[in-house]
Amino acid sequence: MTNPVRVAMLVSRIRVEEKLLLAALEAAGVDVRLIDDGALVFAIEEPRRGLDADVVLERSVSTARGLYALRLAEMAGLPTVNTYATASTCADKLLTAAVLQEAGLPQPQTRVAFTPESALQAIEELGYPVVLKPVVGSWGRLLARINDRDAAEAILEHKDTLGSYQHSIFYIQKFIAKPGRDIRAFVIGDETIGAIYRSSSHWITNTARGGQASNCPVTDELDALCRAAAAAVGGGVVAIDVLEDPDKGLIVNEVNHTMEFRNSIATTGVDIPARVVDYVVSISRDGYPPSVQAPAAFLAAKGDLL
Ligand SMILES: Nc1ncnc2c1ncn2[C@@H]1O[C@H](COP(=O)(O)OP(=O)(O)O)[C@@H](O)[C@H]1O
Ligand SMILES: [Mg+2]
Repeated sequence: MTNPVRVAMLVSRIRVEEKLLLAALEAAGVDVRLIDDGALVFAIEEPRRGLDADVVLERSVSTARGLYALRLAEMAGLPTVNTYATASTCADKLLTAAVLQEAGLPQPQTRVAFTPESALQAIEELGYPVVLKPVVGSWGRLLARINDRDAAEAILEHKDTLGSYQHSIFYIQKFIAKPGRDIRAFVIGDETIGAIYRSSSHWITNTARGGQASNCPVTDELDALCRAAAAAVGGGVVAIDVLEDPDKGLIVNEVNHTMEFRNSIATTGVDIPARVVDYVVSISRDGYPPSVQAPAAFLAAKGDLL
């Protein structure tokens, strides 16, 4: 009998998703080690200390903690969900837009500016309405739809005066007149396992903001776009936000790396936590799938570089 796979699950709090993942890990006969990111102390000289496991599943609520923990787990040569490369790209909307563009994938017209003056110029060039977003953030927080110059000037001044460091980067998108909904698709490894529509009377359709989930069929077009977007950010377990542009069809809005899925299991009929666990076990046994570029430390630990 082979030993059970030892999975270190990094958490800050046990939300609904973590409960579901824990149940799925247990059902898979996995040896689970819960690691509280608030209690963890890493030793740079000894990266394996505190990470006595075969694979790491990062579910931190804090983006910063999650990212650094992934990088340190990578130093220890452990496979991780997700890789640091994937997580750090997804954590930043601007870095995500860059790799999507490099992969030739469709996305909203986007402008980046570093001062309120140049941001105003970019907004006027794009034409109203535009959407201004923090480059780091989620749950639809601090998104601003700007319909005219008066609003643009006010928001830019507020951000300039009151905003923190990250708000000094102005990330501006053309507003997409989508049909009262967007699409959230789940990609695990090389497969789009399911998707939901998120419908709302508000232009921000996140389920955390009251968007209603319903099943969205995974067409060949959606599948191809989402797998390509997942590969572009580095692959792994990701959720892709897709917008239906009235002119351009399906376009990628963003990619999320520590995805929430509580509203999507019954809706899609897909056991998402079980699929995540299958993936976690498979990368610990067989290494990363072709869509994921394995970090050098992982390959070295496996002997492929030696
Ligand atoms: N350019 C846009 N045009 C129209 N709607 C948008 C645009 N950008 C975002 N939205 C709406 O706002 C929601 C949240 O935006 P998103 O970029 O995914 O930020 P978050 O990381 O907060 O989820 C999207 O799901 C979509 O409904
Ligand atoms: Mg989103």
